[in-house]
Amino acid sequence: MTTEQSPDRPGWPGHAGESAQLGTPGHVDNTAIAAERVDYRAGELVEESAPADPLALFDRWLDDAFAARDAGLLAEPTAMVVASIGADGAPSARTVLLKAREDGGFCFYTNYHSRKGRELAGHPAVALLFGWHAIQRQVRVEGAAERVDRAESEAYFATRPRGSQLGAWASPQSEETTVEQLAARYAEVEERFADGAVPCPPFWGGFRVVPRVVEFWQGRPSRMHDRLRYTRTTAGWNRVRLAP
Ligand SMILES: Cc1cc2nc3c(=O)[nH]c(=O)nc-3n(C[C@H](O)[C@H](O)[C@H](O)COP(=O)(O)O)c2cc1C
Repeated sequence: MTTEQSPDRPGWPGHAGESAQLGTPGHVDNTAIAAERVDYRAGELVEESAPADPLALFDRWLDDAFAARDAGLLAEPTAMVVASIGADGAPSARTVLLKAREDGGFCFYTNYHSRKGRELAGHPAVALLFGWHAIQRQVRVEGAAERVDRAESEAYFATRPRGSQLGAWASPQSEETTVEQLAARYAEVEERFADGAVPCPPFWGGFRVVPRVVEFWQGRPSRMHDRLRYTRTTAGWNRVRLAP
């Protein structure tokens, strides 16, 4: 079943009563695509005001992203893209939510059996990307992913809404499925845990990305953007400016 045939899922494309017109098939406006550009003038990033520790600068920018969210400028300030490498060497990327910035790293939660879970277990090299376009900023992180302690994953899981907890049990993330199978699995776990708290599934938990490189990008006029790249060394962080 496709979403277009799901009249029981209000808000989804194709839901009865909403326009099924999702664009004209075969039409792409390449003129509009090519003409789309922004002249960036929102701020600057200079060495004099940038902390020596990239995580301090990240935390400052994350605060700015939250403020932009509060001002209605930006959605999901904690959303980040995680890129992993498959057994065949091919990269893949998806969005997740940052859930903690602690112990010198960036934590997110997921299903350890998912594609990303399996890829990061097999090859911990990882890249993150925060695309805060509304404030003309981007942060790139490169490093290694490690599992968050079980106790910490369980503590975080316990804070999730019950529906999300049940969803974690019900979804064999990244496996092929159908709407009906998922609904049946959800109903099953709802019944299984009807009498109490939902425990953290053994196949679900956090990854912490420990950075080796962090790069900050601030959009500037005429494509003369500011880029500061921090690289971890035995003596601390080394910082350089990169050409835009
Ligand atoms: C805004 C947003 C936030 C998301 N947050 C998470 C998350 O925190 N954890 C997660 O496993 N998937 C999250 N997803 C779904 C992932 O992008 C992805 O579809 C899923 O994890 C399966 O990826 P995989 O098959 O590559 O493992 C999010 C998606 C979006 C668009």
